[in-house]
Amino acid sequence: MNLEHRIAIVTGGGSGIGAATSEMLAASGAKVVVTDISEESARQTADVICQRGQEAIGLGQDVTRIDEWHQVFETTAKKFGVANALVNNAGVSGAGKDRLEEPEGLEAWRFVMSVNIDAVHLGCRLALEQMKVSGGSIVNISSVMGIVGGAGPAYNASKGAVRLLTKSIAAYCGKMGYPIRCNSVHPGYIWTPMVRQIVDVSDEVSTEEELKEMLLLQHPIGRLGRPEDIAAGVKFLLSDESSFMTGSELVIDGGYTAV
Ligand SMILES: NC(=O)c1ccc[n+]([C@@H]2O[C@H](COP(=O)([O-])OP(=O)(O)OC[C@H]3O[C@@H](n4cnc5c(N)ncnc54)[C@H](O)[C@@H]3O)[C@@H](O)[C@H]2O)c1
Repeated sequence: MNLEHRIAIVTGGGSGIGAATSEMLAASGAKVVVTDISEESARQTADVICQRGQEAIGLGQDVTRIDEWHQVFETTAKKFGVANALVNNAGVSGAGKDRLEEPEGLEAWRFVMSVNIDAVHLGCRLALEQMKVSGGSIVNISSVMGIVGGAGPAYNASKGAVRLLTKSIAAYCGKMGYPIRCNSVHPGYIWTPMVRQIVDVSDEVSTEEELKEMLLLQHPIGRLGRPEDIAAGVKFLLSDESSFMTGSELVIDGGYTAV
């Protein structure tokens, strides 16, 4: 899959799935704008890519802020040209605070929603403005927790909303005649900092090894996911090989939702 025609923005690219995705897209020929609320980590990912002779820049961006979205699209246009790919990957789990019956639950709900769904809405809105004539592909990172319950209520609800926002955007682009595809990706448990932090708030496990064992039992394939497993799906959805896919949900979960 050749992505030489892609100018891609990847949010939350300083860590985990976003970092692996940025690297894989660049390795396939895309010019990649890596953004993260941690500017340092975004730059680190971009540096890794540039050291391999591929093209990337790293930018600080809080995805909940529309002014920072404008800046990211402007910088992208100046550096590489108009963006034609967006990966809405930045996300938070709300782990330990996303509790229905606790007083802090409402605050956690609003925070998780602001990052996991409001920001995806912002990114898609600006992407449509940029891409409605020249075209593009948007990938929104949801979760298996956007399909079945089992996480905190805010995380579940935000990821379910990402799934349907994606379909709504796909339908809207079709209606408006915009040559933009929009799909969601639904990872099972991927061993990243977001998952490792479960150990700090869990009542069931007290070490990373115990956490891994517990999660492993929920994945029939017999291993946890790696960030590269998800990056490969995103790469496919940004490539021309998936040109008949829009409004789809690509589940990459080692069988988590099959049982
Ligand atoms: N790891 C998993 O098991 C898993 C499973 C399903 C879905 N996901 C989703 O995949 C995405 C990436 O998760 P990950 O596991 O790589 O997590 P991670 O914590 O390793 O990386 C998330 C990145 O997002 C950044 N970020 C957080 N808030 C931000 C903000 N307001 N603006 C910009 N950047 C921000 C963080 O700084 C971090 O670099 C998330 O949307 C997550 O919900 C992860």
